[in-house]
Amino acid sequence: MMHRSIAFPSDLTPIMLSSDRNLRAVKVPTDWTPASWQTRPALQLPTYPDAQVLASVLEELHALPPLVTSWEITALKQQLAEAQEGKRFLLQGGDCAESFSDCSSEIISNRLKVLLQMSLVLVHGLRLPVIRVGRFAGQYAKPRSTDSETRGDITLPSYRGDMVNAPEFTTEARVPDPRRMIKAHARSAMTMNFVRSLIDGGFADLHHPEYWDLGWVGHSPLADEYHHMVGAIGDAVRFMETLSGAQVHNLNRVDFYTSHEALLLPYEEAQTRQVPRQWGWFNLSTHFPWIGMRTAELDGAHTEYFRGIRNPVAIKIGPSVTPEQLLKLIDVLNPDDEPGRLSFIHRMGAAHVAEKLPPLLDAVRRDGRRVLWICDPMHGNTESTSNGYKTRRFANIRSEIEQSFELHAAAGTRLGGVHLELTGEDVTECTGGARDLTDTDLERAYRSTVDPRLNYEQALETAMLIVRKHAQLAAPAPA
Ligand code: PEP
Ligand code: CO
Repeated sequence: MMHRSIAFPSDLTPIMLSSDRNLRAVKVPTDWTPASWQTRPALQLPTYPDAQVLASVLEELHALPPLVTSWEITALKQQLAEAQEGKRFLLQGGDCAESFSDCSSEIISNRLKVLLQMSLVLVHGLRLPVIRVGRFAGQYAKPRSTDSETRGDITLPSYRGDMVNAPEFTTEARVPDPRRMIKAHARSAMTMNFVRSLIDGGFADLHHPEYWDLGWVGHSPLADEYHHMVGAIGDAVRFMETLSGAQVHNLNRVDFYTSHEALLLPYEEAQTRQVPRQWGWFNLSTHFPWIGMRTAELDGAHTEYFRGIRNPVAIKIGPSVTPEQLLKLIDVLNPDDEPGRLSFIHRMGAAHVAEKLPPLLDAVRRDGRRVLWICDPMHGNTESTSNGYKTRRFANIRSEIEQSFELHAAAGTRLGGVHLELTGEDVTECTGGARDLTDTDLERAYRSTVDPRLNYEQALETAMLIVRKHAQLAAPAPA
């Protein structure tokens, strides 16, 4: 990876305003700059062949307007702090990897529809406000298990997401091209713009949940169950409105936040800004960036970059993380125990979660550290079928979620959210679920360029099983 420093203001001493009440106790790392990650080992970054093109792209990115604002980021952090206290539940979902060609009206609105439907199931069943976070508008860079891919006697660089190169197996497609960062920024802005317009225009209005129905979903037992629930909510809303003689207003829009794996650090650095009347630095390319499992080293470049930004941040943790490593990560990423700042997304796999998760929960609880625990039941359950597809079995996804709820209850901690790969398209990528898709069904509509996603029915079923498990654990034990 070649590096180039971007010119940032030389005075890096942030001013802390007294109006920033709830964050007064947070110290500013004085030994950090948006570029200080460049002094650390950086895994999973591409090698760009042309330093000059890279430099001019980063300069351009640095000058472009941000995709989100610091006010939104601070509001999300406050909501995540409430989730840490059990007052909210987080739903985070979207594609494994967005692709440039999927930046279309239909795909964006279908994904939004599924997330809105799932969040309604969760709000209704958990009786808690739901924080909705999309894995989109920036989810364009992917970590890979190998740097290169060999087919026959040809070896080429691995595909690393549309922000880096293209998936086709040709030399031209696989060369990392920095200009793709500009395109990714533009696609992210278009996605955000459309989602914001839909929501501002009343798409998420609870008076009209029929807007969220997917055209291609025919008769589905789960859709019937869902519509039944929507009917009950509609009755309750109309009853309230009749009773009060006024419209219940805040039902006509919702908050929606974005997240992505902040993997490609040159891109993230170029979107890292100071803003008027706020202290410190914000990554303004997304509200809620996360570090993937493969780049979460304590001394690595990604942890260094995350240390200094004021966004709420999440870290993916897999089965090899030890309690000691986890506590050290907390020391580095949230030394002041700031509410809402740090989330851990555990992704152990259904077969390992019962063994690997409890020691981590115990260590964090014993140390009195404040984190939001999120379960990703997807990435520890990926396997290959005999007909060559990368898939996930719904039974394993279900099992990891259910076990996680139980393990948290036993440890005296709280599962505060889920992190899912899903789509609003009619795909067959994960097996099982209400329609019991089999390995041979995968051939029908497998579209993901990276990991297999839940389709509409599997996603809705996931929301319903979360509600059932939550209710079961909340119910008093039989006498
Ligand atoms: C992902 O979220 O797509 C991913 C690569 O996850 P992980 O870092 O947990 O493997
Ligand atoms: Co993935």
